[in-house]
Amino acid sequence: MALLSILHYPDPRLHKVAARVELFDDALRTLVRDMAETMYAAPGVGLAATQVDVHKQVIVIDVSETHDDLKVLINPRILSTAGTQTCEEGCLSVPGVYEDVRRAERVLVEAENADGRTYAIEAEGLLAVCIQHEMDHLKGKVFVEHLSRLKQMRIRSKIEKDARRKAA
Ligand code: NI
Repeated sequence: MALLSILHYPDPRLHKVAARVELFDDALRTLVRDMAETMYAAPGVGLAATQVDVHKQVIVIDVSETHDDLKVLINPRILSTAGTQTCEEGCLSVPGVYEDVRRAERVLVEAENADGRTYAIEAEGLLAVCIQHEMDHLKGKVFVEHLSRLKQMRIRSKIEKDARRKAA
């Protein structure tokens, strides 16, 4: 297993669109294990392959407090949504930034697991938020891009300031 390095916004590679996974092989299973390890170590509740510069439709999520409910979503597609909720989100690719985002309250999602078996997840609340947030990553979208232009500009200047402080 290995810890993978996470891209930070506004890295342009976060805007690449991920390709469908066609081959469910050992390399894919290694990627899934490494992504899970990286997510738990961060710590975070979700990670998309895009964030580790692998542009394939692979997501790992674990919203449990005990870190024992790993969900692996490969080639995820939303079959239906219901309601809306606003939740404060953060992202391992945008450290230190937490903002409210409006999303669907419930989602029905179909995906493959690491062995290529298709299954469905009916999610609500935090898990539903997390699935939608990670699926955005696969489309090349970072959660701050749901915010107003003004807020995005403020976030960018905060990130640049933090980076300068770190470099100094
Ligand atoms: Ni994220």
